[in-house]
Amino acid sequence: MDFQSYSSFWNTQASTDSGALAAVDGSASEAIVRLTGRWTAAQVRAALDLGGEHRVLELGCGVGRIGRELAADVRSWHGVDISSMMLSVAKQRLDGVDGVSLSQLHRTSLDMLEDASFERVYTVAVLCHMDKEDLFLYLNELRRVMTSGALAYLETWNLDHPMGWKRWRFEVDEWDRSDQTTRKNVARNQFCTPEEFQLYARHAGLQLLACYSDSPWIQLIVGKDLSEDEITAQQSRLAEVRTQVRYSQQWGELFGGLLDVIYGVHPPERFLDELNALTQDPEVELYRDYLLALWQQHSEHWGPVKDAQTR
Ligand SMILES: C[S@@+](CC[C@H](N)C(=O)[O-])C[C@H]1O[C@@H](n2cnc3c(N)ncnc32)[C@H](O)[C@@H]1O
Repeated sequence: MDFQSYSSFWNTQASTDSGALAAVDGSASEAIVRLTGRWTAAQVRAALDLGGEHRVLELGCGVGRIGRELAADVRSWHGVDISSMMLSVAKQRLDGVDGVSLSQLHRTSLDMLEDASFERVYTVAVLCHMDKEDLFLYLNELRRVMTSGALAYLETWNLDHPMGWKRWRFEVDEWDRSDQTTRKNVARNQFCTPEEFQLYARHAGLQLLACYSDSPWIQLIVGKDLSEDEITAQQSRLAEVRTQVRYSQQWGELFGGLLDVIYGVHPPERFLDELNALTQDPEVELYRDYLLALWQQHSEHWGPVKDAQTR
């Protein structure tokens, strides 16, 4: 289908509840969305030193995968998204959680939000689905709604990492195979180098506190109007929590294994065997649960998930 606007693409993805779940982390499973949501929430919490005093904004909140796991720990959590369908799933999933609010965006602007109204902002798996002009406009808008001294966590695809490059090559090959009679999908995956992402953030007036880029994703932690002393203090705090924020080398490798399954390079059995042979730490367990959920979903193509393989 030919998607000309961000909202038409994401509304189509989210036209069913399971489609909405699939569009945020690929799993189409509520149990897995909760697992991955807790994982990402822990990264955001550590990156932003989140506390009960913070008004928090998530740009592109989707079904509230991350917000659901964070909202109870902060003063308020506000999710904004271009897709009304995503927001209606978020509304159901966040029902009953205190301090939560949602707004629909209609263009690349946060114009319904006042200047300097959030101490913490974050965006995950969103800036990688838009043109660079929109990415830059949003960074400016995020800065505008941040209070002086506020922090932001920003994430996008890392072209300058072997697995990020591999993911980008899938996009290139898909385009190469397409009939090319229409322009590319506006919501396709787009990629930055760490230098490029930092450049946009800097030109949006954000101060760089940390950049982690030894994974398929670039993770930036930035601030607004911090003094030199505050920057130094944040940088030393971030050095201490670095392992809670950044994706590990193993995470990047597991992601590569999963990509090979998704793109049909290897069968799921092979990746499951690899996972079973590893030391069972929380990362391996998360990927294993994720693979099994995906396999269940694709059992028509991949064959049934064998009982013996699930343990
Ligand atoms: C892959 S999902 C990620 C959702 C959520 N951040 C998460 O990690 O679970 C991308 C989300 O970004 C939203 N989105 C995409 N383009 C957008 C845009 N231009 N403005 C605002 N939201 C956008 C989509 O509607 C979708 O909910």
